[in-house]
Amino acid sequence: MPTVRSHDTTHDVPAGTRLVHALEAMGTGVGHRCGGKARCTTCRVTFASGEPDAMTVAEADKLRDQGLLGEVRLACQIVVEQDMEVTPLMTVEGEGWPDPGPTPTDDVEPEPTWTTRDAARND
Ligand code: FES
Repeated sequence: MPTVRSHDTTHDVPAGTRLVHALEAMGTGVGHRCGGKARCTTCRVTFASGEPDAMTVAEADKLRDQGLLGEVRLACQIVVEQDMEVTPLMTVEGEGWPDPGPTPTDDVEPEPTWTTRDAARND
């Protein structure tokens, strides 16, 4: 079972779990203001280790639009398949939101088309 680490908390999660769900279960307060649909970028994270190479086209397009491609990743578009250490950048506490946003579904939305980080950067 992969381990997700954030700040000083570690959490074992079943492979295939959306990273946004893992971070929420850890009590990080990670944002998901669009409900996990690759629209808001409030689930943005940075990786200290274990960054997946796989990237949804929706994530690549949104990050490119926002000038964030290569800077952050979107936790709602990442499926945990390996150990990783991440830092959520926008949280309920940090942003003063009343709540993190609508609960994302169990499966990645929109229906994912997969690419890679390198391919996305070269598009
Ligand atoms: S982009 Fe909105 S929750 Fe991920």
